[in-house]
Amino acid sequence: MDQTNLIILGAQWGDEGKGKIVDLFSERFDIVARYQGGHNAGHTVEVGDRRFILQLIPSGILRPGKTVVIGNGVVIDPGALLQEMETLEAAGIQVRGRLLVSHRAHVIFPFHRMMEKASETRPGQVRIGTTSRGIGPAYEDKIARRGIRIADLLDSETFCAQFEQIVREKQLIARALQIEEPLDFAEMRSRYLGYAERLRPLVADVALYVNRAMDQGRRVLFEGAQGTMLDIDHGTYPFVTSSNATAGGASTGVGVSPARIHAVVGVSKAYITRVGEGPFPTECDDQAGQTLRQRGQEFGAVTGRPRRCGWFDVPLLRYTSTINHFASLVVTKLDVLDHLSEIPVCTAYRHRGSLLDEMPALARDLEQIEPVCETLPGWNWPTAGLRDYSELPPAAQSYLQYLEDRTGVEIGCVSTGPQRDQTILRPGSKLAKLLG
Ligand code: GDP
Ligand code: IMO
Ligand code: MG
Repeated sequence: MDQTNLIILGAQWGDEGKGKIVDLFSERFDIVARYQGGHNAGHTVEVGDRRFILQLIPSGILRPGKTVVIGNGVVIDPGALLQEMETLEAAGIQVRGRLLVSHRAHVIFPFHRMMEKASETRPGQVRIGTTSRGIGPAYEDKIARRGIRIADLLDSETFCAQFEQIVREKQLIARALQIEEPLDFAEMRSRYLGYAERLRPLVADVALYVNRAMDQGRRVLFEGAQGTMLDIDHGTYPFVTSSNATAGGASTGVGVSPARIHAVVGVSKAYITRVGEGPFPTECDDQAGQTLRQRGQEFGAVTGRPRRCGWFDVPLLRYTSTINHFASLVVTKLDVLDHLSEIPVCTAYRHRGSLLDEMPALARDLEQIEPVCETLPGWNWPTAGLRDYSELPPAAQSYLQYLEDRTGVEIGCVSTGPQRDQTILRPGSKLAKLLG
């Protein structure tokens, strides 16, 4: 299977450890492609004593010789992208010549952040608890067909005309909503024209590039951002992000037919976390949740916000597996559970006295779900850094077997720490075969 193209994406609410896994697996691919989201993502990769937090640049950048691409489905804050490139280059990672940016990707402007701040703070509005990066308003403009794309930005005449139009509209809205944030639009325009010149050498027709590379037998790994439960269509709407984090997003977000992508691999923690507002059936807001947060260092990679923590949610994983058709699951942060003598797992959802067999679409129904839990024995033994499945304590193996049986998805890989080598890839698994 030398031409297998894979999608790796979040099976929960984001921060599952996708960065670590993409970095690890990208060794076996030629190209790593981001397909949605923006610098709301924070993908942590630890290599030796160095720690990188990637926001827009695919995690494959840390592997010398790999090409990484940012697809049309991503929204790009050029200042953030250039800053990320500089940080990597200062750390000795070659970026120029290895990174391509789609000319069809949409651009984030400071007025997007301004609009987001207004909608997150206005009385009477539903607060989502966003990352404040302007992601949602940038996608709003894209869908409303008034967005500015990288290709538009590079053509100064097109850009200046579009910019004038969009600014006029934002000023009208700002006046109507009594937003008083002063923005210097003339300075913004010339700053963005400056960004255009710095980005120009990276800009390409990424869809064409990736399809041609596939024609030549090069292997592509698609890196999802956020997670399935934050997907604009399939997540816990409205407490979601504004893009398709699910498998379908990889196809539209890069411009590659689903027929050219061979399998989808989900990444899930051995428990679950969520940042921001919204329903969370297995949330533990007690001491157990705080201990998970401390042991798992569950603080946002981008915003530093404490992550809400809870127990593994089987119905949720079954749902996200249905949406994405996971061939295999990577379970991360098993070591975070090492201290526990008992581990609750949610096996079913009860709502108003009945068991549910579907994921409710209404946020209100999700808020009212009572998780039905089973308690499994813990192992109370250090698994951190283990690299062989057979070295895991029997209770840890039983825990993983239980998750596999209940979710119906193979667990092909287990992560026992943030480093590349703190990983167990199960020999003979579907995942091992897909990786080749
Ligand atoms: P992503 O957004 O899905 O890439 O995940 P984040 O980087 O936001 O959060 C995952 C965090 O867990 C990072 O700090 C990783 O370094 C860390 N991590 C990943 N895998 C493991 C693991 O198996 N054990 C532990 N203890 N930490 C891990
Ligand atoms: P990675 O790729 C976890 C959450 C925010 C908020 C909601 C909407 O690192 O897994 P947005 O700024 O996107 O409009 O916020 O989505 N969120 C994430 N949560 N991991 C992420 O990315 C996230 N990106 C956005 O906290 O609840
Ligand atoms: Mg993250």
